[in-house]
Amino acid sequence: MIPEGGSDLAAVSNASPIGVFDSGLGGLTVLRSLHRRLPCEDIIYFGDTARVPYGTKGENTVRAFARQDAGLLVDKGVKVVVVACNTASAFALEYLRSALPVPVLGVIEPGVAAALEATRGGVVGVIGTSGTIRSGRYQDGLRVGGLSDDQIMAVECPLFVPLVEEDKMGQTLMQLAVQEYLQPLRDTGVDTLILGCTHYPLLKDDIGAFMGPNTTLVDSADMLAEAAALLLSEEKLLRGQPSARQGELEFYLSDLPWKFSQIGERFLGRPIADATIVGLDEMEAAGIKHKGENP
Ligand code: DGL
Repeated sequence: MIPEGGSDLAAVSNASPIGVFDSGLGGLTVLRSLHRRLPCEDIIYFGDTARVPYGTKGENTVRAFARQDAGLLVDKGVKVVVVACNTASAFALEYLRSALPVPVLGVIEPGVAAALEATRGGVVGVIGTSGTIRSGRYQDGLRVGGLSDDQIMAVECPLFVPLVEEDKMGQTLMQLAVQEYLQPLRDTGVDTLILGCTHYPLLKDDIGAFMGPNTTLVDSADMLAEAAALLLSEEKLLRGQPSARQGELEFYLSDLPWKFSQIGERFLGRPIADATIVGLDEMEAAGIKHKGENP
């Protein structure tokens, strides 16, 4: 059991857990990458399974949910908050950074940095939920990194999340959706494609087969794990040597979905022993109260 205690920067230490939140179970792909990269760290995961999906919702709603998700983790004494959800990163990262007493990492900056490094001067594609793509955050980052508008192609893929949750990878239904969304990217000859959603790492084979070997796929989960390792090391908050201990994983959800164990295992790569349910009233009470205004 990871000990509790509200975070403020003075109270956290390198022994404090990392906090990760997502709109649901998709963020377990990020948890998996983080745990692989930082195996001796304790990690607390919160999935807002009662209110998923975030990708179809508006900015204010997502920001209000993110505020509660992050507040819950801060109440548990985490040393850093990792926003695994691309939609929440798009809509709430700046707000969370201004409001939280601990460092906050999102998936967009590491994904953009990796894409800028991978591109061979052609067009960079980014795919994600409607919210992520419409926020324009990935596109802004690529522009700041020096790409022109005609070197950026962003496509919303709203059917991918439900199809992954229904385990349709490698099946005709998924291949049709992949073709529907990605044909324009393939026709344009994108050389790098950012998988801008928690669920898309599970689609690497379908997407890779369709796009062909000349398109580099950027997995934002892996990039985020790298960024977290760097941030913790810079802040002197890394916990010991990787060989020293095996970190504990703790799971909190706002609802227990029917297919929780199958979906969870698919994203995490192993079964989840136990998850604690946090009621929505508790979530509302957890909304950031440490600093800053309401979003
Ligand atoms: N976690 C979301 C994201 O990465 C996908 C699922 C949702 O729409 O909530 O954008």
